[in-house]
Amino acid sequence: MFITFEGIEGSGKSTQLKKCEEFLTKKGYPILVTKEPGGTDLGKTIRNWLLNPETTFHHRYSELLLFIADRCEHVESIIKPALSEKKIVLCDRFKDSTLAYQYAGRQGDKTLIYSLNNLVTIDPDITLLFDCRIETGLSRAKARAKLDRFEDENTAFHQRIQDMYHTLAKKHSDRFNIISTEDSIDNVFNKTISLLEEALHKKGYHES
Ligand code: TYD
Repeated sequence: MFITFEGIEGSGKSTQLKKCEEFLTKKGYPILVTKEPGGTDLGKTIRNWLLNPETTFHHRYSELLLFIADRCEHVESIIKPALSEKKIVLCDRFKDSTLAYQYAGRQGDKTLIYSLNNLVTIDPDITLLFDCRIETGLSRAKARAKLDRFEDENTAFHQRIQDMYHTLAKKHSDRFNIISTEDSIDNVFNKTISLLEEALHKKGYHES
């Protein structure tokens, strides 16, 4: 079972992922929690370069290629082995982030980005899209730390990302669930965990 958490900056997805991890671990589900970029040792180095506001790329597609390299290594060394052990993998961002950020956000070439994205052939069983207004998300991001290279982009960039997430959610309505995070952390968590548990039970996973 492969579950991804997606959303714009400050959407609250990482907070919810942490709470889901605690809850599902306590209940004895066999879970593995990971993230992109930065799910492997190589990925941690790639992540530092990608997020550092001082990084300047000289080629239009260097950023995209680093995300793809991070994902290829992550999938082969962490995600696929965990799935073959029947673990429930919870991943903070995945292929939908590349479509939202590098295709819609950066306005890269569609054919190129889709074909590079498809170097990784697995797709999530379920995607939880944490959704809030861009202003809400950015004010949360500003309150928690210095803005990274993506958070520091202009509003039009964030708007293109959010629009793309909504488009993807419509296109892949079989796996996408939109959860509004314009609510308290606890209310959002209750919605998230009931969605997850229902999906896990359907797939035959039960607490132990
Ligand atoms: P992170 O701190 O994990 O962001 P957040 O807390 O919002 O999840 O940083 C990951 C950043 O990388 C985030 O701004 C989105 C961006 N990103 C892409 O642009 N493309 C991708 O394919 C992925 C996985 C992430």
